[in-house]
Amino acid sequence: MKKVTAFVGTARKQHTYYAVRRFLDGLKSLGDVEYEIVGLTDYRVDLCRGCKNCFRKGEEFCPLKDDRDVLIEKMITSDGVVFATPNYSYQVSGLMKVFLDRLGFVFHRPRFFGKTFTSIVAQGIYGGSKIVKYLDFVGMGLGFNVVKGSCTTALDPMSEKEREKIDSIVAGHSKRFRAGLFQPQYPVPSLFKLFGFRAARTSMRVMLDETSRDFTYYRDKGWFEADYFYPTHLGLLKKATGGLVDSITASMTSNREC
Ligand SMILES: Cc1cc2nc3c(=O)[nH]c(=O)nc-3n(C[C@H](O)[C@H](O)[C@H](O)COP(=O)(O)O)c2cc1C
Repeated sequence: MKKVTAFVGTARKQHTYYAVRRFLDGLKSLGDVEYEIVGLTDYRVDLCRGCKNCFRKGEEFCPLKDDRDVLIEKMITSDGVVFATPNYSYQVSGLMKVFLDRLGFVFHRPRFFGKTFTSIVAQGIYGGSKIVKYLDFVGMGLGFNVVKGSCTTALDPMSEKEREKIDSIVAGHSKRFRAGLFQPQYPVPSLFKLFGFRAARTSMRVMLDETSRDFTYYRDKGWFEADYFYPTHLGLLKKATGGLVDSITASMTSNREC
């Protein structure tokens, strides 16, 4: 049984919720999936103050006492995660953005490997596909395996034609996500992801020290010596490219003071 949790960033139970429910019911109807919908309005998610304690010292030093860890625990105990938001002013809703900022330290210290992520955006007219791209990038930064998200369009009230189109988009998305959910959890990374890992870990190794939480996190995970975030088999090209990225990053970061 796979558990899927959808985090929904809207105060209104309308079009975003409609798409999310259709998506999740589609997943469940094929069996072996259970789901939970987490409305972010039902939780306390405070505005990040920008102190960067989480980056430098660790997330437990955050001065905010909100439901951040409850929400993160829901991600940890899920196999699949969905971030869903309306398009507000060509971006995610403020509520969703405040939630993403609370996860800021996870971009430094990614952790959701082996889990599948996707995004759902509901809009009135235009701009949502860029938000899907943004959220999918966020999912990758958090460590998830990402299945391309979807954007649905409807005005108020939703017409029958709009509903049919949304149902069709969401049904296809749900099938794609299901396939991702049941695929091998630890795929060989793309060159792009490998590049990101090697550049990040080498610059941290050269520029930071034991006083930094990012450094100790990477060190304790064995990431300074690893091929990638998780055990994987790199072919010759990727091995060579990874080594090259390590060398170039090391030389660029150690020359920074000159
Ligand atoms: C503050 C605000 C800003 C919005 N900005 C956009 C926008 O830039 N582009 C767009 O297509 N729709 C925009 N909309 C429309 C919503 O995306 C649309 O109504 C969506 O269905 C809302 O989701 P909901 O039904 O789940 O609340 C905006 C709505 C609000 C309230």
